[in-house]
Amino acid sequence: MREYSIAAIPADGIGPEVIEAGITVLESLQKRVGDIRLSFHRFDWGSEYYRRHGVMMPADGLRRLQAFDAIYFGAVGAPDIPDHISLWGLRLAICQGFDQYANVRPTRILRGVVCPLRRAGPGDLDWVIVRENSEGEYSGQGGRTHRGLPAEVATDVAIFTRSGITRIMRYAFRLAQSRPRKMLTVVTKSNAQRHGMVLWDEIAAEVAREFPDVVWDKMLVDAMTVRMTLKPQTLDTIVATNLHADILSDLAGALAGSLGLAPTANIDPERRFPSMFEPIHGSAFDIAGQGIANPIASFWTAAQMLDHLGERAACDHLMDAVERVTSAGILTPDLGGNATTRRVTEAVVDAIQSASV
Ligand code: IPM
Ligand code: MG
Repeated sequence: MREYSIAAIPADGIGPEVIEAGITVLESLQKRVGDIRLSFHRFDWGSEYYRRHGVMMPADGLRRLQAFDAIYFGAVGAPDIPDHISLWGLRLAICQGFDQYANVRPTRILRGVVCPLRRAGPGDLDWVIVRENSEGEYSGQGGRTHRGLPAEVATDVAIFTRSGITRIMRYAFRLAQSRPRKMLTVVTKSNAQRHGMVLWDEIAAEVAREFPDVVWDKMLVDAMTVRMTLKPQTLDTIVATNLHADILSDLAGALAGSLGLAPTANIDPERRFPSMFEPIHGSAFDIAGQGIANPIASFWTAAQMLDHLGERAACDHLMDAVERVTSAGILTPDLGGNATTRRVTEAVVDAIQSASV
């Protein structure tokens, strides 16, 4: 029996709905596969915690998370709390504190999902976006002075370091190498941004020499949106900065049918700290409490978590169950269906139990 302890932080909006759905599915999966045991510890951190304590998580929060094998995270954000406070107080505090520098965002068209690209079907869009997750445009450096005066000035400084770029580039090349097509596209904006982005291009070329079997190319981020939309089948693994990949991954989610499907993993590749797994969609408080949130991003990121823990068979079993449910047309409203979160969850549980392992 292989045992894993998981810290669950459901947090805000639809976070608790999709994380509970995910835990239900993971418990069903462990029953089915038999040889793994997951124990969940739930933390009540988030916006409600902030209203009571004035902080999003306790001061020793990271120390308490350190001992877990992985973190299963819902979403942060509430209408009455400024986004930068909720975000930097919890999610980014964990990503940065645990140096989860590789943010991994797979996208493909699941069977049964209609995507907005008229000519694309399953297989035509199968990407993994690797987002630099520790520096770049979201480094947190900058400041504001002369507040309220006409001379007020604000800066957000994008930080690009040789070590930061080299490690994400190696991660991306290694990932590309592990996929059947062995293709990597490096995204920058090195025509307009002539320092940090040029350094990205140079380091990409250096690291590429370590991976002679990977075919790689470069794209400017604006042109990349066109290629993703018009020639999705020419892309496979993609690496980009924090900001660029943030934007491109929303586009990727939409092109594959819905942001309600899109998962993400915040990985510490060196495994010094637990990695964190979450749906991309955020707290979506406009639909919170209605029971209609799409739980599939939460299931998919749970599958990423199993893969990271070395449980490849359980990961594949879960994704196969998910695709049997989408292909049966059991879909939430964001995908044009009328199934509830619960209906989709029960269908995935049934699919897990009925499939041979
Ligand atoms: C994402 C989200 C977050 C991010 C937001 C909430 C800051 O958009 O995971 O893509 O950009 O990191
Ligand atoms: Mg985003």
